[in-house]
Order: sequence, then structure tokens, then C-alpha cells
Amino acid sequence: MATRALMATKALSAVDRHLALVGFMGAGKSTLGPELAEQLGRPFVSVDDLVEQGTRTSIKELFAEKGEATFRDFEEQAAAFALGRGQLAVIELGGGALQSEATRNALAESAFTLLVRATPEEAWGRVAGSGRPLARDREEFEALYKRRRPLYEEVADAEAGDVQTAVLAAAGVHIGEGSVGRLFELVPGHGPVELVVDARVEPLHGDRVRAALGDRLTAFHVVPAGEASKTISEAERLASALRLDRAGTLVALGGGSTTDLAGFIAATYLRGVPWVPVPTTRIGQVDAAIGGKTAVEMEGGKNLVGAFHWPARVITDPNLLMTLPAEEFETGLAEVVKTGLLAGEPLWELPLGEQVRRCAAFKAAVCLRDPFDTGGDRAQLNLGHTFAHALEAASEFSLPHGRAVALGLVAALRLSGLGEEARMVQKLLRPVPVKVDRDAAWAAVARDKKVAEGRPRLVLLEAPGKPRIGVELDPLEVRAALDALIQ
Ligand SMILES: NC(=O)c1ccc[n+]([C@@H]2O[C@H](COP(=O)([O-])OP(=O)(O)OC[C@H]3O[C@@H](n4cnc5c(N)ncnc54)[C@H](O)[C@@H]3O)[C@@H](O)[C@H]2O)c1
Ligand SMILES: [Zn+2]
Repeated sequence: MATRALMATKALSAVDRHLALVGFMGAGKSTLGPELAEQLGRPFVSVDDLVEQGTRTSIKELFAEKGEATFRDFEEQAAAFALGRGQLAVIELGGGALQSEATRNALAESAFTLLVRATPEEAWGRVAGSGRPLARDREEFEALYKRRRPLYEEVADAEAGDVQTAVLAAAGVHIGEGSVGRLFELVPGHGPVELVVDARVEPLHGDRVRAALGDRLTAFHVVPAGEASKTISEAERLASALRLDRAGTLVALGGGSTTDLAGFIAATYLRGVPWVPVPTTRIGQVDAAIGGKTAVEMEGGKNLVGAFHWPARVITDPNLLMTLPAEEFETGLAEVVKTGLLAGEPLWELPLGEQVRRCAAFKAAVCLRDPFDTGGDRAQLNLGHTFAHALEAASEFSLPHGRAVALGLVAALRLSGLGEEARMVQKLLRPVPVKVDRDAAWAAVARDKKVAEGRPRLVLLEAPGKPRIGVELDPLEVRAALDALIQ
């Protein structure tokens, strides 16, 4: 019963919560913690360190002089202090901290809790001979491990053994082959589900997804394939067809177009219902489904009407990409190249599964650092996009996003003075200049959301891995770069 009650309150992500690391001593929390803190742009707080600072004694001495019970009291106070602070942090708790009910409650209240995994052998290998009070005898150590493990599992919202898995979990992104078959349990909550599905995806994957949702599925809605669904009139049609109440969840199966539309409706229908994207394109899996930006297009402007609405969970199954037409798969590489340029690593060279994970983890980290695009960090994701969005708008959204991004990246790299990288991207993505009206494209740049006082603000690169945001250039230079992308 106690477990069920806790299960019901599981946190879904660390977007608006502390990220707490729990696990046995020697699990690797103190290595993982600072790395995660850096990735998420949050301070790292060790509860053990707080105890040592507060008591001006080492934990070893505290144990020896005052005993374990006194140490646990200090530890409980330090955990309450760390978890009670308003500034979101990555907080490491000691191996025994969960014995305190108050600490367990504070975690449930204000943290997304990650269990850092390690086998008893690995843990012993790290702490044997360290002089830690509870790591002197191997048999006792393993017995303690066994006793504590159920408590960790009960409290944890997710498990992770490395930074990438931890970042994905903290952003609520679940990636796994075959995860589509487990939608019933992976879609958070127990309530009803309505499915929004792209018309081209529906005959390919609809049956399997509906079967996997079982009796949680109460209705499904087919929307036009691809970009044609991202309009105000489709948004209106979808909203009028929905019958969900706030206990329900909207699940979106399709590419970035479908998830942008469904997410926008989830943000606004009944003033917001939970939603879960299940991305079926490469762009969707590496980028669009993550981070909670949702929108539809309006004449003259890309994503002009939209909302931030972080998904309850993103469920990514790389197997869904198998049915993508070759051209669609290839254009999706543009967003992978964008991510690799921002990360400063050739992520496009990785095998597909690893590529999806690495790109998704990169985007997840950026979005966790700046969930509502206010801190400036998230702006880097628009590398190449001022140009891309202008070309898409000038083509009346007939130009696929990936092809537009490929062109936009070339322009951004040229303006960055990175000729070699621009040539590499041309070789990789083979972007073809488009036939659109030059003035319409330039007018779309002016309507872009990133324009300040009439001057376009661009994302450029100092070097791969070193984005510069908010760069204002001479408008004539920007227009020339845009013109070079047009036939
Ligand atoms: N919200 C964000 O953060 C974000 C990020 C990047 C892109 N986007 C948006 O995403 C949109 C582009 O999305 P996209 O590139 O994923 O394409 P898309 O959703 O427009 O789909 C492209 C085509 O692929 C088809 N398709 C999708 N999945 C398939 C599958 N598994 N098998 C066969 N066919 C399939 C669709 O029917 C469509 O014809 C753009 O509007 C862009 O603005 C949003
Ligand atoms: Zn994009």
C-alpha cells in the first residue's frame, strides 16, 4: 500500500524540481553529480558536505565521537535545508539518508530523484579501504546494500548510471527499442488517452499503437500528414473533436509537425492537459519532441502562435524510423548536424541509435538549463533557423523543415567565417537553393521572433561547440546570405 501511494506521486522530470541523486555509497554519485550540475547549469550540493561544513567535523569523526544517530540528525537537517531552497540544484544524498521519513517526504515534494546504479561489487571496489565508517567489512557492506536497496527503489523516479541517461531521465525522455509496445504503462498516469496521429503514420503504426494503449485509449484523431497539419484551422478541428477531461492525456504519434500541433492543443485545450509525444521522424526524435515548444504556422510567419508546454513524458522508439521514406530520413540529418555543430562533436557519424540518444540528450540538457527560453541558453538551438524559417514561410510551408535547416546552416556558417565547416555541411546535406520570392523571404526574416528593433539577431558559431547568440550584423550582409540560398 505504501508503495502504491508513493507510486502515485512519482515525479516526471526535473524541469521545475531539484534533481536528487540517491544510491549506495560507492555508486558513483559524487562523480556523476558535479558533471550533471554542469550540464544542467545548476549548483551541485552534497548533503555530506553540508553536514561537515555545519559541524566543522569530518563525517568519520562525527560517527566516531557522537555516533550514527547524531550524524543522521544532522544529515536530516542538511537534506531539509538543501531540498527546501528555491534555487534548483543537483543534490547528492548519502547512502543512508533515506532512512529518514522526513527526507523521503521532502524528496517526493520537491525533487526528481535518480537512483544511481551500481552492483555491490562495483560499490565495494570504490569504497574498500576508504575508511568510511560503514565500509570496513565486506559482508556487512553487502548486507547493508541488500537492506537499503528496496528503499532506494521505492523513492526513485528513475535510474541512471551515466550522465547522458541521467539528463534524458531528468527531462522525462524515455528512449528504447520496443517502447511503443509498452505505451500503456509508459504514458504517465492511469487515466484515459486520446491519440493524435499523422495520416501517413496511421496505416503504418496506428494499429500497433492503439493495441499497446489498450483500454486507456478512448478516441483517436487522424490529422493531415506532415506540415499540412500545423495550421490554426487544423488546431480548431482537433480541439473540437477532443472529449478528454483534465484527467486524460493527449498522445501524439507523428513527426515534428504532428507533435507541434498536438502539443499546442494540449497546452490550450481546457487551459492545458498533459501530453506525450511519440516521435516518428528523425527530426522529431532528436529535436522537435523534446523541450515543450509547441506551435502552429500562420501566413508569413513560422511558429507564430504557440505555447510552452513541457510533455509529461517523451516516448521514443528508434524502430519507428524504419518506415520513413529515404528522402524524409535524409532531410532529418540536418537537425543532427545542427546539434553536432553546437555540441562540437561529429554526432552525425554515430550509428543511428546512438545518434538519436546523443542528440536528444544534448537538446534535453539545453532545455533543462533554460526551460522557457528566457536565459539565452536555449537560443543556440536556432542555429541556421532564422534563414530556415524565412525560406519555409516564403515557400508557404511547402519546403520541408530539414531542407530549410540545411540551407540555413550553410548561411550561418558562412556568416560565422567558418568556410571549411560550411563546405563540410554542403557535402553532408547537399542543400539545393530554393525557388521562392526573395522579398517574401526577407519580409519573413523581419517577422521572425528573434528580431530586435528591425535588426535580425542571429546565432553564429565562433567554432564548433562555441555558439554566439544574439549576433547583430549589417542587414545588407544578412540579406546577401539569404539571397545566396534562393535560386
Ligand atoms: N518544437 C520544436 O522544438 C521543433 C524542433 C524542430 C522542428 N520542429 C518542427 O517540426 C516540423 C518538421 O517535422 P518533421 O521533419 O519531423 O516532419 P513532419 O512531421 O512534417 O513529417 C514529414 C513527413 O514524414 C511522414 N512521416 C512521419 N513519420 C513517418 C514514419 N515513421 N514513416 C513514414 N512516414 C512518416 C509524415 O507523414 C510527413 O509526410 C517543422 O514544422 C518544424 O518547425 C519543431
Ligand atoms: Zn529545427
